[in-house]
Amino acid sequence: MPFISSDNLSILPALEKDGQFVYHLRFIEEDKCYYFHKDLTPLDVHNDFWRKHWKDYYIAYIGYKKIGFFGIVEGDFRISIIPEMRGYGVGSLMIQDAVNRLGFTTVRVLKNNKASLSAFRKNGFFIVGEDVMNDCEYFIISS
Ligand SMILES: CC(C)(COP(=O)(O)OP(=O)(O)OC[C@H]1O[C@@H](n2cnc3c(N)ncnc32)[C@H](O)[C@@H]1OP(=O)(O)O)[C@@H](O)C(=O)NCCC(=O)NCCS
Repeated sequence: MPFISSDNLSILPALEKDGQFVYHLRFIEEDKCYYFHKDLTPLDVHNDFWRKHWKDYYIAYIGYKKIGFFGIVEGDFRISIIPEMRGYGVGSLMIQDAVNRLGFTTVRVLKNNKASLSAFRKNGFFIVGEDVMNDCEYFIISS
């Protein structure tokens, strides 16, 4: 198991050229059903989105390797980590960094996303409500 701490995890503002990394990570097959609940977005649609919003994103690195991203777009917090690095505490560290940088206090998380709920809980968030959007059920969580 890799040892990950805030000493070997770097988080830097995204560059425009990171669009491809974010696209693949957002839409990898295994996340589709619980993360975005919709069909794959075509690359050209993502590219338009990315041109508008790349400055709202941050990329996490271990050494020179990109291992995840987070960002806030129109009040909606998004985070994802490459599958092989999940479950080692990186999500919690990234959420901590995101909260410090971006100062958000409320997030919507799909009810069945146990990993995300746990990572937020570890950072002092708790459930304050529920929401349904596009047939998906969410908890509203707040710090
Ligand atoms: C959600 C995500 C960012 C969490 O990051 P992570 O590095 O895996 O999380 P952590 O290692 O910090 O673990 C957080 C907690 O979730 C638990 N967990 C991790 N994977 C899990 C899984 N598949 N099922 C249930 N719990 C899980 C861990 O055990 C840990 O709980 P604990 O502290 O009580 O032991 C990451 O799993 C991910 O990228 N998922 C896909 C994208 C996504 O769902 N984004 C969130 C949208 S709101």
